[in-house]
Amino acid sequence: MSSTRTAIVTGAARGIGAAVALRLASDGYAVAVVDLDETASEATVEQIAAEGGRAVAVGADVADEQQVRAAVDRVRSELGAPVVLVNNAGIIRDNLMFKMTVEDWNAVMSVHLRGAFLMTRAVQADMVEAKFGRIVNMSSTAALGNRGQVNYSAAKAGLQGFTKTLAIELGKFGVTANAIAPGFIRTDMTAATAARMGMDFADLIAAGEKAIPVGRVGEPEDVAHTVSFLASQDAGFVSGQVIYVSGGPQG
Ligand code: NAI
Repeated sequence: MSSTRTAIVTGAARGIGAAVALRLASDGYAVAVVDLDETASEATVEQIAAEGGRAVAVGADVADEQQVRAAVDRVRSELGAPVVLVNNAGIIRDNLMFKMTVEDWNAVMSVHLRGAFLMTRAVQADMVEAKFGRIVNMSSTAALGNRGQVNYSAAKAGLQGFTKTLAIELGKFGVTANAIAPGFIRTDMTAATAARMGMDFADLIAAGEKAIPVGRVGEPEDVAHTVSFLASQDAGFVSGQVIYVSGGPQG
């Protein structure tokens, strides 16, 4: 294996994914910044380069089998075989169950579950070959249930089962799989949630600060730090776990 290990982070053009990509780059990984729009991923790549790291922008829809295969092929040839995969790409299509359309159900299942499956299947052989691999799936406290998110909640709970089964199947090859379940993290996604609720984002944050035991909302770097731990060589005996990064014991 080359001395620089390669990591893939999906949904890394902004938000949590961008912070994870930056952190893994500063940990010494060459990072593939995967997102729907390659141009949008360039900002993260430039930031990584400015801090002395190595990264490439890769445009791909994680729910599209051909695009996933092409993206992983590109990563292999431009950066080297991936040994870390962070399945972070995500969308919300919130609505109360009685108003939810089949399209909104399918879209959310497709990005979170099918996307994580396709990406993981595309890279697992590289990890098995390297006898080392780290898979981190982005779940959510919504897995515990959240009004207006029946699709998202089911997908995020599904990712936890996906993670545990990967841990069982891939453990003997030196590959761990874990999930992170963030609570309220300050990103465009939570800003969109505030807008849907007809609230100012600042008011939603203030409500979060009151409700969250540590007295603040989360930042993308809080999640990135946890990914950094789970991706590390020394975390090899931690597998099949769900770590709630939510400022308290509950979602
Ligand atoms: P965000 O909306 O700011 O960023 C998500 C990124 O994923 C975007 O750049 C988007 O273009 C990309 N993406 C969406 N669909 C894609 C697809 N099919 N293929 C490739 N890329 C795609 O969201 P945020 O807040 O950074 O969330 C990141 C992850 O963390 C998501 O999985 C989200 O569900 C999860 N999460 C976020 C929480 C929060 O409070 N912000 C809380 C719990 C979980």
